[in-house]
Amino acid sequence: MFRLDGKKVVVIGGSAGMGLATAELAMECGADAVIAARNPERLAAAAQRLAARGDRPVPWQALAIEDRPAVAAFLHTHAPFDHLVLPGSTVKPLRYDELSDANAREAFDSKFWGPFWAAYDARASMRRGGSVVFFSGVAAERPVKGYVLGACINGALNAAVRSLALEFGPLGLRCNVIAPSLVDTPLLDALHADDKDERCRALAARLPVGRIGTAGEAAMAAVFLMANGYIDGQVLGLDGGHLSIP
Ligand SMILES: NC(=O)c1ccc[n+]([C@@H]2O[C@H](COP(=O)([O-])OP(=O)(O)OC[C@H]3O[C@@H](n4cnc5c(N)ncnc54)[C@H](OP(=O)(O)O)[C@@H]3O)[C@@H](O)[C@H]2O)c1
Repeated sequence: MFRLDGKKVVVIGGSAGMGLATAELAMECGADAVIAARNPERLAAAAQRLAARGDRPVPWQALAIEDRPAVAAFLHTHAPFDHLVLPGSTVKPLRYDELSDANAREAFDSKFWGPFWAAYDARASMRRGGSVVFFSGVAAERPVKGYVLGACINGALNAAVRSLALEFGPLGLRCNVIAPSLVDTPLLDALHADDKDERCRALAARLPVGRIGTAGEAAMAAVFLMANGYIDGQVLGLDGGHLSIP
């Protein structure tokens, strides 16, 4: 059992999916949690549920990861903390012929630059021994038609943590990234409202483990990365063996 007793974990993207599951498991492992995301109603409800289960308050703030000043102020308000977990971002799937300078920048602003600057601005607020956990995705290594931007962003995040480990090391901080394949979260419901079950079944049939992942499994991966002080600069595949598919 991993323990995070006495640690404070800040999750941006903590009102649903892998971020919410991570906040919950971190609390079960002894940490305090602070969560942020955009929709205040969903966030307040998530914070209330977490607080009731963990029997301690869970502060929350509505913000968008793209709003760097708001994110920096939020991080400063909750200093000092130990771990920063960054699953909150939005990348619309766009066909290659739908791409424009504007929508490509929007995607990078959300999933790459949002977490990148959040980590940068968090450094002064983090206690030695802590870590940053980013989220990329298997599309960096296994392309999906219509998801070139996602692939580029995921690849950039995977590359970033290797360098960030060097930058954060002298501060006593580590940086890692989780690269999921399909994980059953509200994101899948939103992206594939019409054919989610069919898509999941089709991928599951190809994966060595024979099923898609769960938010709880993502949470276990995130807590593992936070708790293990010797894992740094790593891309942790959470993909049911997706990279082994020939
Ligand atoms: N699920 C998968 O199959 C899968 C596969 C590969 C990679 N990933 C990546 O894994 C990460 C987590 O995904 P998930 O499936 O857990 O997503 P999810 O179920 O949609 O949850 C996302 C969380 O982040 C928040 N969020 C979304 N956009 C945000 C923004 N711009 N600023 C701040 N918060 C934001 C959401 O709340 P609000 O909407 O209220 O802001 C929610 O709390 C994402 O980076 C995703 O791209 C997921």
